Amino acid sequence: MGVKIIKTGRKVPHKKVTNFDLEKILDTTNEWIKDRTGIINRHISTNETSSSLAIEACQELIKDKDINLSEIGLIICATMTPDTLIPTVAANVKKALKIEHSITFDINVACSGFLYAVSVAESMMKNLNIKKGIVVGVDLNSQLVDWKDRGTAIVFGDGAGSVLLSSEKNSDSGILSTFLDNIDDNDNSLILKNISYKTPFNNLENEYEFFKLEMLGPKVMKFAINAINTSILSVIKSSNISLDKIKYIIPHQANQRIIDAAVKNLKIPNEKFYINIDNYANTSAGSIPIALDELNKNNLLKKGDYIILVGFGGGLSFGAILLKW
Ligand SMILES: CC(C)(COP(=O)(O)OP(=O)(O)OC[C@H]1O[C@@H](n2cnc3c(N)ncnc32)[C@H](O)[C@@H]1OP(=O)(O)O)[C@@H](O)C(=O)NCCC(=O)NCCS
Repeated sequence: MGVKIIKTGRKVPHKKVTNFDLEKILDTTNEWIKDRTGIINRHISTNETSSSLAIEACQELIKDKDINLSEIGLIICATMTPDTLIPTVAANVKKALKIEHSITFDINVACSGFLYAVSVAESMMKNLNIKKGIVVGVDLNSQLVDWKDRGTAIVFGDGAGSVLLSSEKNSDSGILSTFLDNIDDNDNSLILKNISYKTPFNNLENEYEFFKLEMLGPKVMKFAINAINTSILSVIKSSNISLDKIKYIIPHQANQRIIDAAVKNLKIPNEKFYINIDNYANTSAGSIPIALDELNKNNLLKKGDYIILVGFGGGLSFGAILLKW
């Protein structure tokens, strides 16, 4: 039995923020951002929440009449920015979609979250005999970054992407190979400490302490280039499908230069990498499924195409999934 992506969806905040908008609030320029990252626009929440974006991205999956809601037995949301910790974002999605019974939970593996969530969903669907499952990746990075730090604020955006997975008995398509790993972040290159509250038992001076994302950009870049190479080569090796048979590689959209380095190192034609970083920036757990949905909705995916989803993020986590469409 295989697990296959049968529908895709996405939702981003309505407000577009351009590099020129950022010039007005940070010591930066459109040219610098474009040259060093490939980013031109990002979507930033004004009133949207992680749950509202995730819900709208998932409503896309069930709008066709052929979807039987009672078959959806699993909803996993990958996010590091849940607007409610309890209930989980996945539970908010379940309620909004009017799905009566389903396993629902959130996971946080930073920007690698979507890949990890798809892998968990695949295992659970096989082990628990679940017919259909939803995975949604969503992040509201605008809540995490320090808007006074030009080194981090410029590379992130907000957004959600979703997939509907189906257990298929007699199909040779679906997920063929997965690779996931984590190496220690010894340089503290990507850190977001959690909020701490004063209690009668700790030594906190203020009522609470809260933090913003701290990032050492060049260190993350070095890690990301290696992570992409290792992950792509791992899924290729374990699937016995050669790299030249791959139609599209959908990388986590973090920096155009990271993708350019992968193109060079792996000698993969540029056009095989699907890139939309110019319009979204880094939407963390949302980035790969947003790109997948764009490819799908633009009718660029054909039955039988081999596709690699590859990503990396805080932790330091990384991985790839090779699938047959
Ligand atoms: C953040 C990032 C764009 C910075 O680009 P970079 O080429 O590595 O730039 P550096 O940090 O080395 O900084 C180079 C110079 O530009 C300056 N600079 C940094 N951000 C700037 C900005 N937004 N505008 C103008 N100048 C900027 C730096 O202060 C530095 O100046 P200096 O040479 O006078 O000291 C890049 O490192 C990156 O994208 N890293 C990966 C981050 C990532 O993917 N994170 C998420 C992982 S899931």
